[in-house]
Amino acid sequence: MDYNQLMEKAIEASKNSYSPYSHFAVGACVLCESGNMYEGCNFENASFGMTICAERNAIGTAVTSGDRNISAIAIYSPNMEDCLPCGACRQVLAEFDGDTDISIITKTQDGIKIRTLSELLPGCFKL
Ligand code: THU
Repeated sequence: MDYNQLMEKAIEASKNSYSPYSHFAVGACVLCESGNMYEGCNFENASFGMTICAERNAIGTAVTSGDRNISAIAIYSPNMEDCLPCGACRQVLAEFDGDTDISIITKTQDGIKIRTLSELLPGCFKL
C-alpha cells in the first residue's frame, strides 16, 4: 500500500483545523478495510476539555458511514514532525481495528514512517 495518498489527505484535512487556542493544527485520514478513506481535523472549544482530536474526528466519520474496520491512519501536523496519536485516540483506534493491526502513518524529514497500533498501545483494554 502506498500511504502517500493517505498522508496527502491528512495534510489537506489539517488545513481545516479549528485550533484558535493551541494553534496546533492536526489532520488525519483513516483507511478502512473497504478501501474507503475518511478525513478529520482537530476542533477546539472555549471549554478546553471539549476539544476533539483529528484522529477521533476521522474515526467518527468512518463509523458514521458504516465503516468500522480501520486498516491504517495517517496523521499530520504542520507544527510537529512525526506527530503521533494521543493515548485516548490510540484506545479509540483499538476499538475499530477489525482483523488488522492498524498501521500508523506519520511524516518525517526522511519521508513516511510506519508503525503499528500494537507497538504504540501494547496490552490494550478490549472487551
Ligand atoms: N491533537 C490532535 O488532534 N491529535 C492528537 O493526537 C494530539 C492532539 C490536538 C488537540 C488540540 O486541539 C491540539 O492538538 C493540541 O493538543
